[in-house]
Amino acid sequence: MAADLAKRFRVPGYVASLVPYPPGKPIEEVEREYGVSGSIKLASNENPFGPPPLAVEELAAALSGLHRYPDGGCHYLGRELAAHLGAAPEQLVFGNGSNEVIEFLVKALVEPGDEVISSRPSFLMYSKLVQIRGGVNVVVELKRTGGMDQEPGAAFPLAHDLDAIRARVTDRTRLIFIDNPNNPAGTLVAAGELAGFIASLPEHVVVALDEAYIDFVEPEERPDLSLCRRDPRVVFLRTFSKAYGLAGLRIGFGVMHPELAGVLHRVRQPFNVNSLAQVAARAAIRDLEHHRMTVSETRKGMAWLRGELVRLGCLPYGSHTNFFMVDVRADAARLHELLLRRGVIVRPMAAYGFPDLVRITVGTADENRRLIEVMEECLGEIRGF
Ligand SMILES: Cc1ncc(COP(=O)(O)O)c(C=O)c1O
Repeated sequence: MAADLAKRFRVPGYVASLVPYPPGKPIEEVEREYGVSGSIKLASNENPFGPPPLAVEELAAALSGLHRYPDGGCHYLGRELAAHLGAAPEQLVFGNGSNEVIEFLVKALVEPGDEVISSRPSFLMYSKLVQIRGGVNVVVELKRTGGMDQEPGAAFPLAHDLDAIRARVTDRTRLIFIDNPNNPAGTLVAAGELAGFIASLPEHVVVALDEAYIDFVEPEERPDLSLCRRDPRVVFLRTFSKAYGLAGLRIGFGVMHPELAGVLHRVRQPFNVNSLAQVAARAAIRDLEHHRMTVSETRKGMAWLRGELVRLGCLPYGSHTNFFMVDVRADAARLHELLLRRGVIVRPMAAYGFPDLVRITVGTADENRRLIEVMEECLGEIRGF
């Protein structure tokens, strides 16, 4: 923001210094720029198999009701989702994406000067929303769990450092964000370790466990969702944007102690979740086949890609999500650019301090094949053969 205008309007320093979220170019713009068509986007960890067919069907019928405000309490969705999760409807708070639930937590719990702990790297919205509120971001680096020269398929050697996080807790700490699995590392904190960590925290600290990718984690490795019913310090964040295939409709939710949910409802706008999102989410819960297919095809796709990437001389790491880190053994920014020119979009990791790495979201079988074909060409060009 221009400094004189910020001064004139007395914009708080913590707002003026925010960097706006870089808007990704629409795929059509990228295609026009590079003269390509039929691009594939493997950069945002979306569901490549499309929205649940049942949701598409039910959305068509819901369109005729668009002149009405949505159900502000998400009544039916709340009951159906609670039954699906084995939770109570009073434990749920819905948002315009789980992003909005993150925002509710910060709005409800953080006053200017209060501290919020998050890891680096992790999902970027935590620190941004804290800054908007005038809170103090306490950033803890992920810990190294090994060298970068792992066997293909081994976990990426960075994970949440719960001991270091615990050591940074003070009287002013209000919230801790832990994306589990972590984005971008794809690593998971063991449920037992997490339970011990939570038990060690003081009474005044809330831990938000962001489980955006939990559907891709083996059920026996997931933390126990009922934890938050017994312990008001624990909040689980979930989303319909990933395995459920509804990123474009923006709907996510938090599961927490009913009393804490009551606090979050106070800072929520009355109609924050639109009616189509509610209809689609209800259908998505019932479309078990789409969800099952998404998870199993993602696992298959990841295994296939891993083998092919090794053949291309890359080092793919393992992951508990639908994306994974790949050491391309070359300048990843250059590779990203060459791939883009051929209509394949992946996420370069230089901004996270890894100039040889890209993060790739698993696509459909056709998309995965195309990625490998194009990567083979591009790596050949970079490596000079
Ligand atoms: C760890 C994590 N949390 C939350 C989100 C945001 O999800 P939503 O679309 O529900 O706002 C993402 C999206 O990329 C994510 O990676």
